[in-house]
Amino acid sequence: MNSTTSINGIQLTYETHGKGTPVVLLHGFPLDAQMWQPQVEALSAGYQVIVPNLRGYGGSTQTEQDGTEGVTMRQYADDIIALLDELSINEPVVLAGFSMGGYVAWQFALNYPERLKALIACDTRVIADPPEAREKRQKMASLMQSAKDTEAATSMLSVMLATSKQQHAPSVAEKVKEMILRQSPLAVAAAQLGMAARPDVTERLKEITCPALVVCGAEDAISPPAEMRGIANALPNASFLEIPNAGHMTTLENPQAVNEAFADFLKGL
Ligand code: MLT
Repeated sequence: MNSTTSINGIQLTYETHGKGTPVVLLHGFPLDAQMWQPQVEALSAGYQVIVPNLRGYGGSTQTEQDGTEGVTMRQYADDIIALLDELSINEPVVLAGFSMGGYVAWQFALNYPERLKALIACDTRVIADPPEAREKRQKMASLMQSAKDTEAATSMLSVMLATSKQQHAPSVAEKVKEMILRQSPLAVAAAQLGMAARPDVTERLKEITCPALVVCGAEDAISPPAEMRGIANALPNASFLEIPNAGHMTTLENPQAVNEAFADFLKGL
């Protein structure tokens, strides 16, 4: 079911499917809830799957100030808590965060541990941006603040997908491109500024004691497997799984392997 709710001064759109333990899926940048479609289909038979569109994305609104000053990862996490409150979901949830959704998930885990049953970190990072990356984000944000569409952001596509996928599965590339193109430039600007300012949470991973699964595409060029294995090692209660035949966009590049990984992890909780 597609729904909209008013929280924290914005309209947040989200999907809910199925019944059971709540599983919340947080999308990456500059994408929306649709990037989880294969997982929603697989998991909704046994779980209540909740897939929000982060503020500004996929039909959710953001404030004027968000577009000029940026949205912090903490703000996106606070919006998820407000959504869960709105849905009267008080029991701890399983939270899966993909890439930027992972940055949000760290904030959720560190600030609302009592609301978290288990964590799935997909193709994400814990370090803050080095100065050059921050500068690049700031440039992209300025460009987006005066752009009429997000065409310029589609340049990310080549690093998002495994080289083999770009050649052999152009439909995945097409799907991701369409997703980027339907987002608002000001949402892209807001997230870029927010990600540029995100804190390094490396030293805080030891505080996240709930069961965790860390998954990473074998050919992920944005959040590489070696780095993600290190995250799993630093979390007190985590396992690591590499997804074959996938770059950064594991959920769409190898949905079957991701679905199996999620199902096994959820079954073991
Ligand atoms: C994402 O997939 O969410 C982005 O690549 C994250 C980032 O730009 O750091």
